[in-house]
Amino acid sequence: MSMFKIKVPATTANMGPGYDVLGMALTLYNEFEVEKIAKGIETVGFGLIPLEENLVYIAMKKTLDLHGKKVNGLKITAKKIDIPMSRGLGSSATCIVVGIMIANKLMNNILNKEDILRIGTEMEGHPDNIVPAAIGGMCASIYENNEVIYSKVNVANNLRFVVMIPDFTVSTHEARKVVPKNYSKKDCIFNISRVAMLVASMNNGEIEHLRKATQDKIHQPFRANLIPNIQAVFKACEDLGSKAEFISGSGSTLMAIIDEKNVQFEEKMKQFLETIEGNWKIKILAVDTEGAMVV
Ligand code: HSE
Repeated sequence: MSMFKIKVPATTANMGPGYDVLGMALTLYNEFEVEKIAKGIETVGFGLIPLEENLVYIAMKKTLDLHGKKVNGLKITAKKIDIPMSRGLGSSATCIVVGIMIANKLMNNILNKEDILRIGTEMEGHPDNIVPAAIGGMCASIYENNEVIYSKVNVANNLRFVVMIPDFTVSTHEARKVVPKNYSKKDCIFNISRVAMLVASMNNGEIEHLRKATQDKIHQPFRANLIPNIQAVFKACEDLGSKAEFISGSGSTLMAIIDEKNVQFEEKMKQFLETIEGNWKIKILAVDTEGAMVV
């Protein structure tokens, strides 16, 4: 018997300068179905991952354990997996958020949004994918003393987000190792100014500021080596009229922001991507404003 389904969006974290702070939900989704069965816990559609390593199960169990609850007789099916794994589009955050939401449903919705964000961020270590995956939109987050504080940023309706996804993966764990431990005051001010400008100009719909506002000295210069052809892809985007380019999360996906009127972009960029290695796929997405939902 089908009990419920959960739909959860992809997310793009950092958005250039907002390392571990900014993230946005996108109109690309994974969907999971939860059913009652006679006994045990079954997972379907997750490939060959054993139950103990399945992030949806881990998040569900952790949430139930935290509340002294257990479950028996449940089947979780990954119905539609459109978000590629290890590409910087928040697929692990989707699993964590879904696992917590399944547990919450089983406990008659005793958790509020803040509880869900807290458990999810504790599991993931940073809030920038978890928060928009759970609540949608573009979000700025603070994670401190195991509490998550967030605020939504307006995103102009005419903006489109171009995700360019290569066939190679980047491990977030590895990509975090190449990020320095310390920065000069000059570089800190560089990033603070960009994050402030990015939030303000997004809120005000000042698209002309986005190129400068997405510059970064905290992580992208150190991660560029992990993504072959990054500079060529960024240059091609700019030549085709994109307003800004950045690494999505820790990569390997690259992101460009375009105006919806730039209808030539997709086809022309597709042609360019065919000329370089990596079997790149391109999708034009909008901002998802709702976040994860029981449907
Ligand atoms: N803020 C994270 C990072 C996002 O850049 O490492 C990836 O999960």
